[in-house]
Amino acid sequence: MQFTEDFIYTLKQNNPIESVASSYASLKKQSRGFVCLCPFHSEKTPSCHINAAEGYFHCFGCGAGGDVITFVMKAENLDYVEAVRFLADRAGMALPDDNKDTDFMRKKTVILEINRAAARYFNRILTKDKRGEKGRMYFSSRGLLPATIIKYGLGYADDDWHSLYDHLRSQGYADEDIVSANLCAVGRNGGIYDIFRDRVIFPIIDLRGNVIAFGGRIIDGSGPKYLNSSDTPVFKKSRNLFSLNFAKNSTEKRLILAEGYMDVIAVNQGGFENVVATLGTALTPEQARIMARYAEEVIISYDSDSAGQNAAHRAIELLSDAGLRTRILKVTGAKDPDEFIKKYGSQRFGQLLDNSDGAVTFELRRCTEGLDLDSDVGRVEYLKRCSLVLSQIRSPVERDVYISAVAKEQGISREALSAQVASALKVKGRAADSREWLSIRTFSSMRKTDPDSVRFRREYKAECGVISYIYRCPDKFEEIAARLPEDYFVTAFNRRVYHCIAENIRKSTNFDIMSLQSEFTADEMGRITAILEETGEIDIGADAAEDYIAILTAYHEESRKKVRPAEMSDDELRSFAIKMKNRK
Ligand code: CTP
Ligand code: MN
Repeated sequence: MQFTEDFIYTLKQNNPIESVASSYASLKKQSRGFVCLCPFHSEKTPSCHINAAEGYFHCFGCGAGGDVITFVMKAENLDYVEAVRFLADRAGMALPDDNKDTDFMRKKTVILEINRAAARYFNRILTKDKRGEKGRMYFSSRGLLPATIIKYGLGYADDDWHSLYDHLRSQGYADEDIVSANLCAVGRNGGIYDIFRDRVIFPIIDLRGNVIAFGGRIIDGSGPKYLNSSDTPVFKKSRNLFSLNFAKNSTEKRLILAEGYMDVIAVNQGGFENVVATLGTALTPEQARIMARYAEEVIISYDSDSAGQNAAHRAIELLSDAGLRTRILKVTGAKDPDEFIKKYGSQRFGQLLDNSDGAVTFELRRCTEGLDLDSDVGRVEYLKRCSLVLSQIRSPVERDVYISAVAKEQGISREALSAQVASALKVKGRAADSREWLSIRTFSSMRKTDPDSVRFRREYKAECGVISYIYRCPDKFEEIAARLPEDYFVTAFNRRVYHCIAENIRKSTNFDIMSLQSEFTADEMGRITAILEETGEIDIGADAAEDYIAILTAYHEESRKKVRPAEMSDDELRSFAIKMKNRK
């Protein structure tokens, strides 16, 4: 769908980027707009800048950038048209033409309908149908109350290869859509069969109450223990959490992260609304960030076997990267929370939660793994591992407390351990410094990716200055263009930007940086917003613009004089070659 420039303009007026962004991150006011923790990558210090006045964002951490539409595309995982629709909706604007049902939207809508019909069907079989007896027996043997079955909308898929398919067909759904919903598959002979058979069914529900996917657990017989819907147009495993639709309403500032469906349901039934699980995969950074929207602390409740502990270790990293405090639940006397609650009740489980270890204690305990602490070799290795863990504690006070504890436990001097930790910190510090350097706002953003910008630092800076100037003062453009032809630009990327800005200023009444969107990739848009953001700090006036033009003109003249490659230095030869190449 094509939108007119006017429509997009009004859309943006009605959806100020800072107001849209504030639904995804908490914004802090800053000199030229706002800063926040970037919603698009994990970070601890805010490097996402929202330029309210000019209507764009840029993250110095991950390089993401763009206007409010790009922001919504990334934040909601929508395509361009969907994002426009989303924003129109948000502002209560009617869409220009009523071409509402693009194919993709239609597909999504119908898949959600099919999922809902299937969930109802599975639930009816479980609760009311003779065929559901096996499922009923199973859930009751697992101690689920009828109210819990209703709450989670649990179901049962019977043993037949076609019963869901027949049901959905009788409701008028097309084969193609049923297959897209991932409930049925096409067999080798072209026939369509049910994917979930003889399994109890866990519908996965998103925050808006849509049924987006299913998990199915085997009762007996062969095959994988769980089957999970694969990704569909309405479902992405990596960015959904089971039971978040309930957990989000919890008033607690902490979430419990359990292993799977049954643990979540048992814990929830035990009176803890704030429990979630991933959907048959390891925790992803996206899920960690989603959790950070609802909680300050996560209690990880994974199996105590080594796979579970390794997963917990990885989860601690991801969750702390997302700014969450973490603790590790240690279930004793039962194999998992489900069994624990059945055996000891939910009050004892509550105590377990309250007494769960902090992440540091957990990590320190892991350091002993596979070591003989009675041997000198084992103890040295143990202390080395501990130093690494200790060096990762951000608060110096907390770090000191743990250093003392470990030193005492191992009967060594505090100073010796401190020194060891300090050297681990130094290594870390070097890595942190280099990250810091990247975020320093001195035209640094492109150095990583564009060797030209390093090679021709002065010219590159001048080019960025010119781009920023004409972007902010488009009325000065013709004046500049008359004196600064495109081929005076030394670096290829900036030349392209200059060219596109020029074209757009000439053909558009209200020039907007995002009219460039069609000509540049998302990454490239990030580079453009980086230039604007970096130069935004400096007040580029007509004088500065003169200097930039002078620099680029001088360079151009210089390189024209030296036409004989033999007389050139390496650098000159390189830039000469680039210029020649770009002339074509
Ligand atoms: N899982 C999966 N596929 C499997 C096994 C497990 O997707 N073959 C996922 C499921 O999401 C499951 C979670 O991993 O919920 C945890 O697995 P497990 O501990 O084996 O299952 P529980 O949920 O504890 O179920 P139960 O108590 O019935 O064994
Ligand atoms: Mn279990």
